[in-house]
Amino acid sequence: MVKTLPSQDIDLFCNLAVTVEALQTEAYVIGGYVRDHILGRPSKDIDIVCVDDGIVLAREYAKAHNILHELKTYSQFGVAMIKIGDYEIEFVSARKESYTQDSRKPKVEKGSISDDQLRRDFTINALAISLTEILKKKEAHIIDAQSNPLGFDVIDPFGGIEDLSKKIIRTPTDPDKTFSDDPLRMMRAVRFASQLNFEIQPSTKESIKKNAHRIDIVSKERISIELNKIMASKQPSIGLSLMEDLDLMKRILPEMSIMNEVDIKNGKGHKNNFYHTLEVIDNVAENSDHLWLRWAALMHDIGKPRTKRFEESVGWTFHGHEVVGERMVKQIFRRLKLPLDHKMKFVSKLVRLHLRPIALVNENTTDSAIRRLLYEAGEDIDQLMLLCEADITSKNKDKVNRYLQNYVEVRRRINEVEARDKLRNWHPPIDGAIIMKTFNLKPCKTVGVIKTAIREAILDGDIENTFDAAYTFMIEQGKILGLEPIN
Ligand code: CTP
Repeated sequence: MVKTLPSQDIDLFCNLAVTVEALQTEAYVIGGYVRDHILGRPSKDIDIVCVDDGIVLAREYAKAHNILHELKTYSQFGVAMIKIGDYEIEFVSARKESYTQDSRKPKVEKGSISDDQLRRDFTINALAISLTEILKKKEAHIIDAQSNPLGFDVIDPFGGIEDLSKKIIRTPTDPDKTFSDDPLRMMRAVRFASQLNFEIQPSTKESIKKNAHRIDIVSKERISIELNKIMASKQPSIGLSLMEDLDLMKRILPEMSIMNEVDIKNGKGHKNNFYHTLEVIDNVAENSDHLWLRWAALMHDIGKPRTKRFEESVGWTFHGHEVVGERMVKQIFRRLKLPLDHKMKFVSKLVRLHLRPIALVNENTTDSAIRRLLYEAGEDIDQLMLLCEADITSKNKDKVNRYLQNYVEVRRRINEVEARDKLRNWHPPIDGAIIMKTFNLKPCKTVGVIKTAIREAILDGDIENTFDAAYTFMIEQGKILGLEPIN
């Protein structure tokens, strides 16, 4: 299909070009914007490279359009940013590197557009269109998408357009050099492969494997941004298995790599938990875009290697892996500089609870067991059920359907109990303050004992979920503990 750029974008580029001409310089739209438009994934993130000072261009443009308040400059990095509506425009100066004989450190200096393209990470990210050419074509009414992708001459020195059509990720120059300039690019290669469902070219892959150890010098924050983009892609297993194959996983998430093994003893093996986990993530991804639910899938069996035992009678066991896994989530999130707020708590909670719904697949399951799960999962019960359903990864379709059917029944029971008892965001009707006031107590262990007894009695269905029933029960519990109400 023939695609041109959206007319709103063309107008913006023409306005930029007017400033470019006034400054008698050259500037280009480059990188992700051009790549994504050729792929038909329109984006409003625009990178502009100027052969003179990018910050000067940004400032002049902002002045001309009365939007100086939208200009942010980071002179130590030579970068300027302007936000206009949905657009985020980043301006940089074209650079070139030259090596002197006495130093391995390159000297970075002003360069041409070709110099700058050579310094970019991948051929598909080195595509550029001249802003002046956009303006000229617009003025001459010759935007022709038949002969040019997007209707403009794309400057493509390394065959990036062909790579886009062949779905290939490849560096414009020697990959060892590209990755040594910025080792994060190894993760970017994997991330683009996962996002776009592209192949990484064999020599680029080889170079990643060779240089994988250099990812250690990259900040965890930058790595996690790429990791999250892999996790958010349509089929995260593409990126995660590439990370494993290219030795990046064992440096970033060694707890995952360790799961890539199968132990066999007395002829009994266990499943490869690494590949099982990838299947679970893909299953979740088919049904939900929730990034942290995907993380819960990634972490759900992370405690297995540490709890693995072989018992003669039953074979391999992983008792308590959900509890060990829950603790590991916090350590991993801290190490990777992932958020330690409610998102981490959500992931830990789901890891801890992921075996619970399966235990409810039983005709004799009591309402109190369901109530307990509803109380513990709270508003995350639906996400937990999605994770459990995704955790069924047998090759045998009948088996999968049978297990899924079991969960239909569990969901039915959950809905029934929830409709009756409203336990999703439930708090027991009597709290610590009431207990202290009734028995004239200061904060102490006894308050906790009575509070827990009330909660348990309601969850077990021994007393009704009402204030009056809980109050009477509290007085009885007090008596057992030798306490009298003060009035
Ligand atoms: N780039 C690079 N090396 C990096 C990061 C970025 O060469 N380590 C270049 C690429 O040309 C890239 C451009 O800078 O296209 C913009 O980078 P960025 O905005 O991070 O990525 P995009 O390619 O735009 O992709 P996305 O928006 O999906 O992150």
